[in-house]
Amino acid sequence: MRLISILSSVICLLAVLPSPAQPPALQVLESGRKVSIRGLSVVTDQVIWASGTGGAVAKSVDGGATWDWMTVPGYEKRDFRDIEAFDENTAIIMGIAEPAVILKTRDGGKSWNKVFEDSTRGMFLDAMDFINEQTGIVIGDPINNRTFFARTYDGGEHWEKVNTSSFPELVAGEAFFASSGTNIKLTSLNNAYAILFVSGGTRSNLWTGFFHKDSIPLVQGKESTGANSIAVSQASGKAVVVGGDFTKDTASGKNCVLLSFQQEGVKMSVPYTPPHGYRSGVCYIDEQKLISCGTSGIDVSTDGGMNWQLFSKESYHVVQKSKKGNTVYLAGNNGRIARLITH
Ligand SMILES: *[C@@H]1O[C@H](CO)[C@@H](O)[C@H](O)[C@H]1NC(C)=O
Ligand SMILES: *[C@@H]1O[C@H](CO)[C@@H](O)[C@H](O)[C@H]1NC(C)=O
Repeated sequence: MRLISILSSVICLLAVLPSPAQPPALQVLESGRKVSIRGLSVVTDQVIWASGTGGAVAKSVDGGATWDWMTVPGYEKRDFRDIEAFDENTAIIMGIAEPAVILKTRDGGKSWNKVFEDSTRGMFLDAMDFINEQTGIVIGDPINNRTFFARTYDGGEHWEKVNTSSFPELVAGEAFFASSGTNIKLTSLNNAYAILFVSGGTRSNLWTGFFHKDSIPLVQGKESTGANSIAVSQASGKAVVVGGDFTKDTASGKNCVLLSFQQEGVKMSVPYTPPHGYRSGVCYIDEQKLISCGTSGIDVSTDGGMNWQLFSKESYHVVQKSKKGNTVYLAGNNGRIARLITH
Protein backbone atom coordinates (compact mmCIF):
# COMPACT_ATOMS: atom_id res chain seq x y z
CA MET A 1 0.00 0.00 0.00
CA ARG A 2 2.66 2.38 1.09
CA LEU A 3 4.92 1.38 -1.79
CA ILE A 4 2.11 1.83 -4.25
CA SER A 5 1.34 5.30 -2.99
CA ILE A 6 5.01 6.27 -3.17
CA LEU A 7 5.20 4.83 -6.66
CA SER A 8 2.08 6.58 -7.78
CA SER A 9 3.29 9.90 -6.43
CA VAL A 10 6.59 9.37 -8.27
CA ILE A 11 4.61 8.61 -11.42
CA CYS A 12 2.51 11.75 -10.87
CA LEU A 13 5.69 13.75 -10.37
CA LEU A 14 7.21 12.34 -13.56
CA ALA A 15 4.04 13.13 -15.43
CA VAL A 16 4.13 16.81 -14.49
CA LEU A 17 7.89 17.29 -14.89
CA PRO A 18 8.74 18.61 -18.31
CA SER A 19 10.85 16.20 -20.33
CA PRO A 20 14.47 17.34 -20.55
CA ALA A 21 14.89 19.94 -23.29
CA GLN A 22 15.92 18.27 -26.50
CA PRO A 23 19.00 19.87 -28.02
CA PRO A 24 18.47 21.52 -31.37
CA ALA A 25 19.67 19.79 -34.52
CA LEU A 26 20.98 20.84 -37.91
CA GLN A 27 19.51 19.93 -41.25
CA VAL A 28 22.23 20.35 -43.88
CA LEU A 29 20.59 21.69 -47.04
CA GLU A 30 23.61 22.20 -49.30
CA SER A 31 27.26 21.14 -49.20
CA GLY A 32 30.18 20.03 -51.35
CA ARG A 33 30.85 23.19 -53.35
CA LYS A 34 34.18 25.01 -53.30
CA VAL A 35 32.62 28.15 -51.87
CA SER A 36 33.30 29.73 -48.52
CA ILE A 37 30.06 31.46 -47.55
CA ARG A 38 30.16 34.42 -45.19
CA GLY A 39 27.22 36.44 -46.48
CA LEU A 40 23.72 35.33 -45.49
CA SER A 41 20.42 37.20 -45.65
CA VAL A 42 17.20 35.48 -44.64
CA VAL A 43 14.28 37.61 -45.80
CA THR A 44 11.42 35.26 -44.87
CA ASP A 45 11.22 31.62 -43.84
CA GLN A 46 11.10 30.86 -47.59
CA VAL A 47 13.48 33.38 -49.21
CA ILE A 48 17.16 32.98 -48.34
CA TRP A 49 20.22 34.46 -50.08
CA ALA A 50 23.88 33.60 -49.48
CA SER A 51 27.17 34.88 -50.94
CA GLY A 52 30.82 33.87 -50.87
CA THR A 53 34.06 33.19 -52.70
CA GLY A 54 34.41 32.60 -56.43
CA GLY A 55 31.79 35.26 -57.18
CA ALA A 56 29.13 32.90 -55.84
CA VAL A 57 25.59 33.79 -54.85
CA ALA A 58 22.95 31.22 -53.87
CA LYS A 59 19.22 31.74 -53.51
CA SER A 60 16.34 29.62 -52.32
CA VAL A 61 12.67 30.66 -52.57
CA ASP A 62 11.26 27.48 -51.04
CA GLY A 63 12.68 27.45 -47.53
CA GLY A 64 15.95 25.85 -48.55
CA ALA A 65 14.53 22.80 -50.35
CA THR A 66 16.12 23.84 -53.66
CA TRP A 67 18.90 26.32 -54.39
CA ASP A 68 19.78 28.39 -57.39
CA TRP A 69 23.58 28.89 -57.50
CA MET A 70 24.97 31.68 -59.66
CA THR A 71 28.37 33.16 -60.44
CA VAL A 72 28.28 36.90 -60.90
CA PRO A 73 29.65 37.49 -64.46
CA GLY A 74 32.91 39.43 -64.44
CA TYR A 75 33.40 38.81 -60.71
CA GLU A 76 34.35 35.13 -60.78
CA LYS A 77 37.35 35.63 -58.51
CA ARG A 78 35.68 37.94 -56.01
CA ASP A 79 34.77 37.19 -52.43
CA PHE A 80 31.33 38.53 -51.59
CA ARG A 81 31.60 38.64 -47.82
CA ASP A 82 28.17 40.14 -47.19
CA ILE A 83 24.74 40.19 -48.78
CA GLU A 84 21.56 42.06 -47.91
CA ALA A 85 18.36 40.93 -49.61
CA PHE A 86 14.90 42.52 -49.51
CA ASP A 87 12.86 39.96 -51.43
CA GLU A 88 13.34 37.21 -54.00
CA ASN A 89 14.30 39.75 -56.68
CA THR A 90 16.33 42.36 -54.84
CA ALA A 91 19.73 41.86 -53.22
CA ILE A 92 22.98 43.74 -52.64
CA ILE A 93 26.39 42.07 -52.43
CA MET A 94 29.65 43.47 -51.11
CA GLY A 95 33.08 42.62 -52.59
CA ILE A 96 35.81 43.42 -50.12
CA ALA A 97 38.85 44.90 -51.85
CA GLU A 98 40.87 46.07 -54.87
CA PRO A 99 38.59 47.51 -55.87
CA ALA A 100 35.92 47.44 -53.20
CA VAL A 101 32.58 47.01 -54.96
CA ILE A 102 28.91 46.82 -54.15
CA LEU A 103 26.54 45.27 -56.70
CA LYS A 104 22.76 45.18 -56.77
CA THR A 105 20.29 42.95 -58.56
CA ARG A 106 16.62 43.75 -59.11
CA ASP A 107 15.82 40.70 -61.21
CA GLY A 108 16.59 37.86 -58.86
CA GLY A 109 20.27 37.64 -59.79
CA LYS A 110 19.99 37.53 -63.60
CA SER A 111 21.86 40.84 -63.84
CA TRP A 112 23.93 42.83 -61.37
CA ASN A 113 24.62 46.58 -61.45
CA LYS A 114 27.70 48.10 -59.89
CA VAL A 115 26.38 50.68 -57.41
CA PHE A 116 29.66 51.45 -55.61
CA GLU A 117 33.34 51.13 -56.45
CA ASP A 118 36.43 52.41 -54.68
CA SER A 119 39.98 51.48 -55.56
CA THR A 120 41.69 53.39 -52.75
CA ARG A 121 44.74 51.44 -51.57
CA GLY A 122 44.06 49.67 -48.30
CA MET A 123 40.30 49.80 -48.78
CA PHE A 124 38.72 46.67 -47.33
CA LEU A 125 34.97 46.47 -46.81
CA ASP A 126 33.81 44.36 -43.87
CA ALA A 127 30.04 44.39 -43.53
CA MET A 128 26.78 46.12 -44.42
CA ASP A 129 23.60 46.65 -42.46
CA PHE A 130 20.20 48.12 -43.32
CA ILE A 131 17.62 49.42 -40.86
CA ASN A 132 14.89 49.22 -43.52
CA GLU A 133 14.75 48.74 -47.27
CA GLN A 134 16.11 52.25 -47.91
CA THR A 135 18.70 53.15 -45.29
CA GLY A 136 21.93 51.24 -45.02
CA ILE A 137 25.61 51.53 -44.20
CA VAL A 138 28.81 49.75 -45.13
CA ILE A 139 31.86 49.66 -42.86
CA GLY A 140 35.47 49.20 -43.95
CA ASP A 141 38.88 48.97 -42.37
CA PRO A 142 40.50 52.28 -41.42
CA ILE A 143 41.72 54.62 -44.15
CA ASN A 144 44.08 57.30 -42.76
CA ASN A 145 43.47 55.75 -39.33
CA ARG A 146 39.72 56.37 -39.46
CA THR A 147 36.99 53.81 -39.97
CA PHE A 148 35.59 53.87 -43.50
CA PHE A 149 31.84 54.29 -43.95
CA ALA A 150 29.52 54.80 -46.88
CA ARG A 151 25.77 55.24 -46.61
CA THR A 152 22.75 54.76 -48.80
CA TYR A 153 19.28 56.21 -48.44
CA ASP A 154 17.72 54.67 -51.54
CA GLY A 155 18.02 50.94 -51.02
CA GLY A 156 21.63 50.73 -52.18
CA GLU A 157 21.17 52.43 -55.58
CA HIS A 158 23.61 55.16 -54.54
CA TRP A 159 26.24 55.22 -51.83
CA GLU A 160 28.00 58.25 -50.41
CA LYS A 161 31.21 58.10 -48.43
CA VAL A 162 30.92 59.53 -44.94
CA ASN A 163 33.31 62.44 -44.32
CA THR A 164 35.21 61.04 -41.36
CA SER A 165 37.80 63.81 -40.98
CA SER A 166 36.40 64.83 -37.59
CA PHE A 167 35.99 61.25 -36.36
CA PRO A 168 38.37 59.81 -33.76
CA GLU A 169 41.43 57.96 -35.04
CA LEU A 170 41.73 54.27 -34.34
CA VAL A 171 44.89 53.00 -32.67
CA ALA A 172 47.33 51.21 -34.95
CA GLY A 173 46.12 47.68 -35.66
CA GLU A 174 42.49 48.20 -34.64
CA ALA A 175 40.28 47.13 -37.53
CA PHE A 176 37.20 45.09 -38.38
CA PHE A 177 36.58 41.48 -39.30
CA ALA A 178 34.80 40.57 -42.50
CA SER A 179 33.94 37.12 -41.17
CA SER A 180 30.13 37.14 -41.25
CA GLY A 181 28.86 40.57 -42.32
CA THR A 182 27.52 41.17 -38.83
CA ASN A 183 29.89 43.49 -36.97
CA ILE A 184 27.74 46.57 -37.58
CA LYS A 185 24.09 47.13 -36.65
CA LEU A 186 21.72 49.97 -37.41
CA THR A 187 19.09 49.70 -34.71
CA SER A 188 16.86 51.60 -32.37
CA LEU A 189 17.54 51.28 -28.66
CA ASN A 190 15.68 53.10 -25.88
CA ASN A 191 13.69 54.74 -28.68
CA ALA A 192 16.80 56.31 -30.13
CA TYR A 193 18.35 55.50 -33.47
CA ALA A 194 21.71 53.88 -32.91
CA ILE A 195 24.67 52.66 -34.86
CA LEU A 196 26.71 49.97 -33.16
CA PHE A 197 29.88 48.35 -34.45
CA VAL A 198 32.63 46.24 -32.94
CA SER A 199 36.35 46.16 -33.71
CA GLY A 200 39.20 43.72 -33.28
CA GLY A 201 42.93 43.39 -33.73
CA THR A 202 45.18 45.23 -31.30
CA ARG A 203 42.04 46.58 -29.60
CA SER A 204 38.49 45.36 -29.39
CA ASN A 205 35.97 48.14 -28.88
CA LEU A 206 32.23 48.57 -28.94
CA TRP A 207 31.58 51.78 -30.87
CA THR A 208 28.23 53.38 -30.12
CA GLY A 209 27.85 56.02 -32.77
CA PHE A 210 30.84 57.37 -34.67
CA PHE A 211 32.47 59.04 -31.67
CA HIS A 212 32.06 56.90 -28.57
CA LYS A 213 33.90 53.70 -27.80
CA ASP A 214 34.08 51.30 -24.86
CA SER A 215 36.69 48.57 -24.55
CA ILE A 216 35.17 45.08 -24.74
CA PRO A 217 36.52 42.38 -22.39
CA LEU A 218 37.38 40.04 -25.26
CA VAL A 219 40.74 38.54 -26.22
CA GLN A 220 42.67 41.24 -28.10
CA GLY A 221 46.19 42.37 -29.03
CA LYS A 222 46.79 40.28 -32.15
CA GLU A 223 45.64 40.57 -35.75
CA SER A 224 43.47 37.47 -35.27
CA THR A 225 41.73 38.54 -32.06
CA GLY A 226 38.69 40.52 -31.05
CA ALA A 227 35.02 40.99 -31.83
CA ASN A 228 33.52 39.47 -34.97
CA SER A 229 29.77 39.81 -34.62
CA ILE A 230 27.09 41.71 -32.71
CA ALA A 231 23.42 40.81 -32.38
CA VAL A 232 20.80 43.12 -30.87
CA SER A 233 17.56 42.32 -29.08
CA GLN A 234 15.68 45.60 -29.46
CA ALA A 235 12.78 44.50 -27.28
CA SER A 236 15.00 43.95 -24.25
CA GLY A 237 17.62 46.63 -24.96
CA LYS A 238 20.30 43.97 -24.93
CA ALA A 239 23.01 42.82 -27.28
CA VAL A 240 25.64 40.13 -27.47
CA VAL A 241 29.09 40.28 -29.01
CA VAL A 242 31.15 37.23 -30.00
CA GLY A 243 34.68 36.75 -31.28
CA GLY A 244 37.88 35.30 -29.93
CA ASP A 245 41.08 34.31 -31.73
CA PHE A 246 40.53 32.56 -35.06
CA THR A 247 44.01 31.00 -34.89
CA LYS A 248 43.01 29.24 -31.61
CA ASP A 249 39.48 28.42 -32.52
CA THR A 250 38.74 25.97 -29.71
CA ALA A 251 39.90 28.33 -26.94
CA SER A 252 36.97 29.28 -24.73
CA GLY A 253 36.75 32.37 -22.60
CA LYS A 254 37.07 36.05 -23.54
CA ASN A 255 35.02 35.24 -26.64
CA CYS A 256 31.58 36.57 -25.69
CA VAL A 257 30.23 39.68 -23.96
CA LEU A 258 26.66 40.51 -22.98
CA LEU A 259 25.57 44.14 -23.29
CA SER A 260 22.70 45.92 -21.62
CA PHE A 261 21.87 49.42 -22.88
CA GLN A 262 20.74 51.69 -20.08
CA GLN A 263 20.13 55.42 -19.74
CA GLU A 264 23.50 55.90 -18.06
CA GLY A 265 25.36 53.90 -20.68
CA VAL A 266 26.12 50.38 -21.66
CA LYS A 267 26.68 47.68 -19.04
CA MET A 268 28.91 44.77 -20.02
CA SER A 269 29.06 41.35 -18.46
CA VAL A 270 30.63 38.05 -19.44
CA PRO A 271 28.83 34.70 -19.64
CA TYR A 272 29.14 32.16 -16.86
CA THR A 273 29.68 29.43 -19.50
CA PRO A 274 31.07 31.05 -22.66
CA PRO A 275 30.72 29.56 -26.15
CA HIS A 276 33.16 26.71 -26.77
CA GLY A 277 35.64 28.45 -29.04
CA TYR A 278 36.13 31.33 -31.46
CA ARG A 279 32.77 32.43 -32.84
CA SER A 280 32.24 34.59 -35.96
CA GLY A 281 28.45 34.87 -35.93
CA VAL A 282 25.70 35.25 -33.34
CA CYS A 283 21.97 35.86 -33.43
CA TYR A 284 18.92 35.97 -31.19
CA ILE A 285 16.29 33.29 -31.80
CA ASP A 286 14.12 35.03 -29.20
CA GLU A 287 14.94 37.17 -26.15
CA GLN A 288 16.29 34.18 -24.21
CA LYS A 289 17.46 31.82 -26.93
CA LEU A 290 20.64 32.55 -28.85
CA ILE A 291 22.84 30.72 -31.30
CA SER A 292 26.48 31.33 -32.16
CA CYS A 293 28.76 29.67 -34.70
CA GLY A 294 32.39 29.59 -35.76
CA THR A 295 34.99 27.34 -37.34
CA SER A 296 35.05 25.04 -34.28
CA GLY A 297 31.33 24.57 -33.83
CA ILE A 298 27.94 25.89 -32.80
CA ASP A 299 26.65 26.82 -29.35
CA VAL A 300 23.19 27.63 -28.13
CA SER A 301 22.00 29.47 -25.03
CA THR A 302 18.53 29.36 -23.54
CA ASP A 303 19.17 31.94 -20.81
CA GLY A 304 19.95 35.13 -22.68
CA GLY A 305 23.60 34.24 -23.29
CA MET A 306 24.66 33.46 -19.69
CA ASN A 307 25.37 29.78 -20.41
CA TRP A 308 26.29 28.30 -23.77
CA GLN A 309 26.04 24.66 -24.73
CA LEU A 310 28.09 23.19 -27.59
CA PHE A 311 25.81 21.14 -29.81
CA SER A 312 27.83 20.69 -33.01
CA LYS A 313 31.54 20.71 -33.84
CA GLU A 314 30.85 21.48 -37.49
CA SER A 315 32.34 24.68 -38.88
CA TYR A 316 29.96 27.50 -39.82
CA HIS A 317 30.78 31.18 -40.39
CA VAL A 318 27.45 32.93 -40.19
CA VAL A 319 24.03 32.45 -38.62
CA GLN A 320 20.91 34.52 -39.32
CA LYS A 321 17.27 34.41 -38.32
CA SER A 322 14.58 35.23 -40.84
CA LYS A 323 13.84 38.97 -40.79
CA LYS A 324 10.10 38.35 -41.22
CA GLY A 325 9.84 34.82 -39.83
CA ASN A 326 11.31 32.42 -37.31
CA THR A 327 13.61 30.10 -39.18
CA VAL A 328 17.35 30.16 -38.46
CA TYR A 329 19.89 29.34 -41.18
CA LEU A 330 23.67 28.88 -41.02
CA ALA A 331 26.32 28.89 -43.74
CA GLY A 332 30.05 28.25 -44.02
CA ASN A 333 32.84 26.45 -45.87
CA ASN A 334 32.32 23.96 -48.71
CA GLY A 335 29.14 25.72 -49.74
CA ARG A 336 27.47 24.44 -46.61
CA ILE A 337 24.04 25.83 -45.76
CA ALA A 338 21.95 24.41 -42.94
CA ARG A 339 18.70 25.02 -41.13
CA LEU A 340 18.37 24.89 -37.37
CA ILE A 341 15.72 22.48 -36.13
CA THR A 342 14.43 23.29 -32.66
CA HIS A 343 12.08 21.08 -30.69
C1 LIG B 1 48.12 56.83 -38.18
O1 LIG B 1 48.52 56.65 -36.85
C2 LIG B 1 49.89 56.40 -36.68
C3 LIG B 1 50.13 56.14 -35.20
O2 LIG B 1 49.28 55.17 -34.74
C4 LIG B 1 50.71 57.56 -37.20
O3 LIG B 1 52.07 57.25 -37.10
C5 LIG B 1 50.34 57.83 -38.64
O4 LIG B 1 50.98 59.00 -39.06
C6 LIG B 1 48.84 58.00 -38.78
N1 LIG B 1 48.51 58.12 -40.20
C7 LIG B 1 47.70 59.06 -40.66
C8 LIG B 1 47.47 59.04 -42.13
O5 LIG B 1 47.17 59.89 -39.95
C1 LIG C 1 35.09 67.02 -44.40
O1 LIG C 1 34.71 67.76 -43.26
C2 LIG C 1 35.66 68.76 -42.88
C3 LIG C 1 35.14 69.40 -41.61
O2 LIG C 1 34.89 68.47 -40.62
C4 LIG C 1 35.85 69.74 -43.99
O3 LIG C 1 36.85 70.66 -43.62
C5 LIG C 1 36.28 69.01 -45.26
O4 LIG C 1 36.33 69.92 -46.35
C6 LIG C 1 35.29 67.93 -45.60
N1 LIG C 1 35.77 67.15 -46.73
C7 LIG C 1 35.03 66.88 -47.78
C8 LIG C 1 35.69 66.06 -48.85
O5 LIG C 1 33.89 67.26 -47.90
